[in-house]
Amino acid sequence: MKLAVLTSGGDAPGMNACVRMFTKAAIARGHEVLGIRGGYEGLLDGDAVTLDLPMVDGISRHGGTMLGSARSARFPTAEGQQLAASRVAELGIDGLFVIGGNGSLTGAHVLARHAPCMVVGAPASIDNDVGFSRLSIGVDTAVNTIVEACDRISDTARAHRRAFVVEVMGRHCGYLAMRAGIAADADAILFSERNRSDADTIADLKQLLTRSFSKARGKKRVLIIKAEGVELPTADLVAALQAHLDTEVPGVGIRETILGHVVRGGNPSATDRLIAQRLGGGAVFALEEGVSDVMLAWEAPSTVGTKTEDPSVRRISLQEVLDETGRMLDGTSPTTRARVALILKAEQVLAL
Ligand code: F6P
Repeated sequence: MKLAVLTSGGDAPGMNACVRMFTKAAIARGHEVLGIRGGYEGLLDGDAVTLDLPMVDGISRHGGTMLGSARSARFPTAEGQQLAASRVAELGIDGLFVIGGNGSLTGAHVLARHAPCMVVGAPASIDNDVGFSRLSIGVDTAVNTIVEACDRISDTARAHRRAFVVEVMGRHCGYLAMRAGIAADADAILFSERNRSDADTIADLKQLLTRSFSKARGKKRVLIIKAEGVELPTADLVAALQAHLDTEVPGVGIRETILGHVVRGGNPSATDRLIAQRLGGGAVFALEEGVSDVMLAWEAPSTVGTKTEDPSVRRISLQEVLDETGRMLDGTSPTTRARVALILKAEQVLAL
């Protein structure tokens, strides 16, 4: 078969490992592999290159994506969909593998129904907001990057007896803030799924700061991790807390660090490489079996989708994945509820 692979949306560490294993597994089984450059935009332009073994040699350890990525404005339109389907026919693609986050998987679902080829996907997004996959490709590395940054910030914070608000990516999903916050010994974790008002958030944090820097408690640093999905601007939060410190604990300062795209780059962790490779291999097997419109999920609940030979990889219809992704984002998914409940439980200990 002629198989093609593209990476789309925000890049995630581990995308290269996924491309590599997809390519190697496909070549090993006698297929031809095309790499589409620049995500769906590249597909619309017919920008494809044949991938051979030397091209993917040693790429697993690199962050970003060797194929390039994009957020395409043309692709979701009716004209874009039509053009994409004709490009698939022109390039002679039998099966397409889409590696990306929820926007990219939405595109894969639409394409699976309109294009003259099979389409399968794998979740790759640092946000961990894709339904039915315990970890998306890139999440583990992003968490490690945040924890390392927070450890460094904690060193300087302690030296100066300061508080820090560290804002992390994640779009509308608080997972990165939650997981990294626990690992970095944060004193408070702010995430939008909690639905707390700005006034309540600020009031809680004022209390936390007064208590933490009191003589009795004697803390030298306070670390507050804030998910970017929390609408209260970090600068406004810091200004309000500094005003409070000035009157309540004079001499103690607060600073902000917005980690931004630092969180998205870097060499993938071993866990991300491993997840990526196994999903990449699973994609080849799915396409060989004529399966389309599914996502290869990592450690999905055993109640959804179908088993594969790999005990950690399940095939789940893209429609089911996208429905669950919607529930994760509106807070009705059991996964989101469980994440929030866990943090709320941990909160009393964090703030001690
Ligand atoms: O979806 C991944 C992500 O990094 C989000 O966490 C963030 O909100 C967004 O992409 C940033 O997108 P861009 O790189 O297009 O600014």
